[in-house]
Amino acid sequence: MSRFARLLHIEASPRGPRSRSSDVARRLIDGIAPATVETLNLFEADLPPFDGTVIEGRYALLAGDAVSPDVVAQWDAIRARIDHFLSFDAWLFSAPMWNFGVPYPLKHYIDLITHPGMTFTVQDGGVTGLAAGRTAIVIGSGALDIRPDGPMAALDHQMTYLNDWVGFIGVTDIHRVDIRPTYGSECEVSAAMDRAYAEADALAAALSRPARV
Ligand SMILES: Cc1cc2nc3c(=O)[nH]c(=O)nc-3n(C[C@H](O)[C@H](O)[C@H](O)COP(=O)(O)O)c2cc1C
Repeated sequence: MSRFARLLHIEASPRGPRSRSSDVARRLIDGIAPATVETLNLFEADLPPFDGTVIEGRYALLAGDAVSPDVVAQWDAIRARIDHFLSFDAWLFSAPMWNFGVPYPLKHYIDLITHPGMTFTVQDGGVTGLAAGRTAIVIGSGALDIRPDGPMAALDHQMTYLNDWVGFIGVTDIHRVDIRPTYGSECEVSAAMDRAYAEADALAAALSRPARV
């Protein structure tokens, strides 16, 4: 039986059934078999703008200033999105590397849901993440082999960023699966896929055991 009741798959590739990161994510989800899985494809999600008006509205709300009904509605919607995110006990992010980082809708989503008092708190100069006690899995694909310890590791602003962000909001149980390089000879790419499937299967087996034995 899976140790996760509710898993949110946050999918950041627009390539649908052709996506390598989504493909490995689905294999991992099948292996983990959580009681409930919800998929949020960020290229299909209608994310509201996160712009100057929204930011100034937050500062005004924090200061106790009068704000327009639009601002109240915008922040109610953001609050609802954060409550939805925090209602899961595990998050699976699947994302290709785009220009060394993450695709823009994933950054947009992170900007929408990361706010003091909502996803983390700051007290006496210390930060406490409000997502503590949950699990995050990051599946990343990329044409280049930027895995740790390799010669191109310094170009990684995708896996390191996601790892640091989930850590910032309090997650300590973080797992990673790489699919790379996805550019090269057929043999190299299929070896990358086989490696990722094997990592996903091993992770599914590890996550299917009780957290403490
Ligand atoms: C706009 C764009 C930018 C990309 N930038 C990078 C990059 O900086 N580094 C890299 O390794 N691959 C890069 N790629 C290649 C993808 O990461 C790679 O094809 C990946 O396997 C796609 O995963 P997916 O099938 O899950 O979408 C880029 C692809 C696109 C479309």
